Amino acid sequence: MNPMPTPAKKFDLPTEVISNEPVAESHYLLRCACPEIAANALPGQFIHVLIPQDSGLLLRRPFTIYTVEGDQITMLYQLIGEGTNVLSRLKRSDSIRVLGPLGNTFEILSGPNPAIIVGGGAGIASLMLLAAALRNADVHTLGLVGSMNRARLLSVEDLKAMGVETHIATDDGSVGHHGFVTELLTHILETYELRNSIIYACGPDGMLRAVTKIGLDYQIPTQLAMENRMGCAMGVCLGCVCKVQTPGGEFEYQRVCTEGPVFSAEDIVW
Ligand SMILES: Cc1cc2nc3c(=O)[nH]c(=O)nc-3n(C[C@H](O)[C@H](O)[C@H](O)COP(=O)(O)OP(=O)(O)OC[C@H]3O[C@@H](n4cnc5c(N)ncnc54)[C@H](O)[C@@H]3O)c2cc1C
Ligand code: FES
Repeated sequence: MNPMPTPAKKFDLPTEVISNEPVAESHYLLRCACPEIAANALPGQFIHVLIPQDSGLLLRRPFTIYTVEGDQITMLYQLIGEGTNVLSRLKRSDSIRVLGPLGNTFEILSGPNPAIIVGGGAGIASLMLLAAALRNADVHTLGLVGSMNRARLLSVEDLKAMGVETHIATDDGSVGHHGFVTELLTHILETYELRNSIIYACGPDGMLRAVTKIGLDYQIPTQLAMENRMGCAMGVCLGCVCKVQTPGGEFEYQRVCTEGPVFSAEDIVW
């Protein structure tokens, strides 16, 4: 089981913000029209967004494509630092420049059932196009959504609208399971004796390490979307590499922006 290789077509386009609204505490959803990117986007792929020139920020910021609706795409983003704070202040008709779709894609297999998607915090954003593709492929899908608390909970209604059986975990117990989303994953694997399933995950490194261990312990194929910091997103600067095990038992560094962002969990050397 290997994530799919990187498709070739990329576009670098000026566009305007259509909407940019808060959807949860410290999280926004930005919508823009990018017909070429919308027509070519695949689950797990991302865009590299040039934040307006007057911000003084030279480097673009990467965000997964959250949804594709006609010729529009959306991105769901968390406020982290300067770039995302500038983004959150953009209004309708403000200009941005978007490069994409970038990176490889999740592989959808017809055999394993159900598919289990596990998102921690804004990591759930990387799994939403995948959830839509799984629905279109008639794959029964469980969605496990982890969040710090109820106010920061993301995407639950969007997942339910797609028919995804959704389970919630919060760190403070304000809604759903009180604890980590990885505990919820183990609980569900045990309760329903799910051994012929497949896991797709995105979230903080600690969560992805724990998901990797669970996948290995239960011998369930697991694909991870990595979110390493990026410079160029074009395979040139090597700023985004992660350590990966090769078939010969050696190690090499692979670029999250081009060989990834999706990797088989068993290949990642943490
Ligand atoms: C392929 C990919 C897809 C992504 N998709 C999404 C998405 O859909 N939604 C979303 O909210 N975020 C996503 N991210 C993360 C997002 O790119 C960063 O949060 C954003 O670039 C931060 O920009 P900033 O200018 O606000 O913060 P900065 O000022 O650049 O950074 C502020 C602080 O956050 C840390 N930081 C920044 N980026 C990262 C990172 N990637 N990992 C760990 N620490 C970081 C920095 O070290 C610094 O301490 C994705 C990242 C990648 C690589
Ligand atoms: S970000 Fe430059 S090589 Fe990946």
